[in-house]
Amino acid sequence: MKGIKGDTLSTQKLHIGIIGAGRIGRVHAETLAFRLPEAEIVAITDINREAAEALAARCNIPKVAASSAEILADKQIEAVLICSSTNTHADLIEQTAKAGKHIFCEKPIAFSLEQIDHALAAVKKAGVQLQIGFNRRFDANFARVRHAVATGEIGAPNLMHIISRDPGPPPLAYVKVSGGIFMDMTIHDFDMARFLIGDEVEEIYTAAGVRVDPEIGNAGDLDTALIVLRFRNGVIGTIDNCRKAPYGYDQRVEILGSEGKIATENCYPNQAVVSDGKSVHTDLPLNFFMERYTESFASELKSFVTAIREEQTTEVTGIDGRIPVAMALAARKSYDEHRPVRLEEVGG
Ligand SMILES: NC(=O)c1ccc[n+]([C@@H]2O[C@H](COP(=O)([O-])OP(=O)(O)OC[C@H]3O[C@@H](n4cnc5c(N)ncnc54)[C@H](O)[C@@H]3O)[C@@H](O)[C@H]2O)c1
Repeated sequence: MKGIKGDTLSTQKLHIGIIGAGRIGRVHAETLAFRLPEAEIVAITDINREAAEALAARCNIPKVAASSAEILADKQIEAVLICSSTNTHADLIEQTAKAGKHIFCEKPIAFSLEQIDHALAAVKKAGVQLQIGFNRRFDANFARVRHAVATGEIGAPNLMHIISRDPGPPPLAYVKVSGGIFMDMTIHDFDMARFLIGDEVEEIYTAAGVRVDPEIGNAGDLDTALIVLRFRNGVIGTIDNCRKAPYGYDQRVEILGSEGKIATENCYPNQAVVSDGKSVHTDLPLNFFMERYTESFASELKSFVTAIREEQTTEVTGIDGRIPVAMALAARKSYDEHRPVRLEEVGG
């Protein structure tokens, strides 16, 4: 089989540039450097040069570029990972597309649908590939649930429940630029809902509040929410979010179908069960996304690299990045106006 530039897949590495060396930049750089021999990081950049230099040293990246423009001008680079803060994504997608390079971009693409449409138009015009960082689709538990729905193993789905609670809230500085809980946190669950059911949501109702930290409320955000989704095909779903679960990262789903149900539990660092005179207990679940979703982050990048090398469409496309943003806008509008909101009201 032929890959990019017509070379054989077995001999050619995909040459990658990375923009952003923060938390998620590090996760992806480590995957590429230590787990994906079919890719090679050529250069990395960050407006915080020290962060880029530290990650370059850790992952043996040969070049620290002075700017994203230098990454985009590098002729050796065929694909770019955009791992910088959300407010940079749409512009960087546009510039990267214009430079003729394939794109992996972290979620969300932007906070406004106009900006997203602009960026996606540039991608289409350039004819490059785009994958959005909805890594949870590549998690083995959730992929199994999707399989059960897609194959009819539990009959036709009727009810869907997603529980998605963080171990603790992010720093206030992060909250202020995050776009709010629906854009930053629930966005993964909106994507998961579409992925699991294989259909689109048409109406959203949100009940939410500030139950964890009043400072989050003072910043104009919420930290606890229950969101009801009504799908076009009649399935009814809930998303249960909280910025704080004292027992750790709580990530579960359950779907009830006409012929049965499928449910996933949390993931644990070990299987040991301790029994003593007071209780029978286990250790706490894997604590946060870096630990819980390590394998899914590796699988999503492998999928991206394979799609580029084999000239196939990526598994999570630009439109998959747009729809959850529309859902986030609808969820916030529903909270603000105390009523169910149809996606078409927000341009979805
Ligand atoms: N898929 C996931 O599970 C997941 C997890 C965490 C974060 N994210 C997303 O990844 C993005 C980054 O989040 P993070 O947690 O790594 O944040 P972070 O603050 O740890 O890192 C962001 C980095 O981007 C750099 N940066 C900002 N503007 C830049 C620019 N113009 N050019 C180059 N570098 C720039 C910052 O200096 C910082 O080092 C966000 O969009 C976030 O939503 C996704």
